[in-house]
Amino acid sequence: MKKTFLAFMCLLTLTVTAQPTTSKITIHADQGKKVINKEIYGQFAEHLGSCIYGGIWVGEKSPIPNTKGYRNDVLNALKQLNIPVLRWPGGCFADEYHWMDGIGAREKRPKMVNNNWGGVVEDNSFGTNEFFNLCEILGCEPYLSGNVGSGTVEEMAKWVEYITSAGDSPMANLRRQNGREKPWKLKYIGVGNESWGCGGSMTPDYYSDLYRRYSTYCREYDGNKLFKIASGASDYDYKWTETLMKNVGDRMQGLSLHYYTCKGWNGSKGSATKFDKADYLWTMGKCLEIEPVVKKHIAIMDKYDPQQKVGLMVDEWGTWWDQEPGINSALYQQNTMRDAFVAALSLNIFNKYTDRVKMTNIAQVVNVLQAMILTEGPKMLLTPTYHVFEMYKVHMGATYLPMDIQCDSLASNDKKFAAVSASASKDANGKIHITLANIDPDKDQKIEIDLANIKIGNVSGTILTANTLDAHNTFENPATVQPVAFKGTKVSKGVLTVNIPAKAIISLELTTGK
Ligand code: AHR
Repeated sequence: MKKTFLAFMCLLTLTVTAQPTTSKITIHADQGKKVINKEIYGQFAEHLGSCIYGGIWVGEKSPIPNTKGYRNDVLNALKQLNIPVLRWPGGCFADEYHWMDGIGAREKRPKMVNNNWGGVVEDNSFGTNEFFNLCEILGCEPYLSGNVGSGTVEEMAKWVEYITSAGDSPMANLRRQNGREKPWKLKYIGVGNESWGCGGSMTPDYYSDLYRRYSTYCREYDGNKLFKIASGASDYDYKWTETLMKNVGDRMQGLSLHYYTCKGWNGSKGSATKFDKADYLWTMGKCLEIEPVVKKHIAIMDKYDPQQKVGLMVDEWGTWWDQEPGINSALYQQNTMRDAFVAALSLNIFNKYTDRVKMTNIAQVVNVLQAMILTEGPKMLLTPTYHVFEMYKVHMGATYLPMDIQCDSLASNDKKFAAVSASASKDANGKIHITLANIDPDKDQKIEIDLANIKIGNVSGTILTANTLDAHNTFENPATVQPVAFKGTKVSKGVLTVNIPAKAIISLELTTGK
């Protein structure tokens, strides 16, 4: 009898909680002042697992269809994202990478051991020329991560000369011998990576001095302007940021920050696909914690640099789960709707801090961590995270529109957070784009959006959702999670009402009139 009553109460609770809640968003469409840096939508490719080899590069002789060694399917998918910037060659790999091993005739390049990532043999067949040519094909800025941990100042100086010098200089001539007459353009250069850890286990004071020394010799050849990025803090290491800002100041144009949505660095990080609702909510809370973390780093930067000359570059972020069982490729993980939410929430946050956050690079582009793309031999699939990037790309370079949100909250352990996350921008043609995520796993939301005095014309949209939070795409079923047209909007008396289902991400496009 007791049991029946309890079951009835549970059913009642479920029925009651399944009712849509009404949330309100006010978009201050007339108050847009800052531009969303397109580099916030940046990517990262490391010599790790099958990101480069097998994922991007298969070599010219591969039976996998390729263009000069780059696989065609991956190139085409990446072109769709309009990638603004690609970081390479690491990560931890960067501080053991000696660029001269990766130039010249491929069959003559020396091999090395990739000590950071499984001790596999790296044959250096993908090197500087292959990376810069890839960026040209993708139309993105290259972001080079230089070796401070185990490399010399001379090595880094010559790398910049090899890439950017147009003159009759030794390194420019070496580049010409390797088949490239014209220099490439290089804007972003990272001076070391995680120099507190895999990049040399340094103290912030010691690294500050090394930064000053190495960056001095990164010369600007023939009109090439460098944007130098110092290796920054991980997560909550505010002391690192404080020391670098104090010691280096505006000798750097950017200071990096790494933040992973991850259970910790020791032991299991949890399965990418097998999780329950409590794990999901924990993930949302941990992901959203990036906002106070970013704010604290920004507050320190503001103290030393009120004019915002130095950018905060979140050049590694995303989810980090246990490696997929049965797959022999370091840090290869599946990607579900849960990961899609981490992408959507993070990008909404980064847009908000665009005046200081000049770039972010999700880790990583193919086959590693929160990837856009997974490959298996000749097969390729697009992950839910890829679809979020495609739905959000409309914000790149658009004017950020501030907003206020009133909505339900969710909780995980001691954390309480909003069930709805959103971002809005206005593009050069006057179109407004709104990205919305309803992270509530059970409740639909009715969201009333007020755009101040803007007259709303046509509204169209795309939705990414699935029946379950662990839904993901496989090589057998690559289209389980994919965006479809969204019809749940209505405009009445100047208010846009959006009926967003539980666990869904939406991108809306609005034409506006007077
Ligand atoms: O992205 C994987 C690794 O995470 C990078 O190599 C390193 O910088 C970070 O610890």
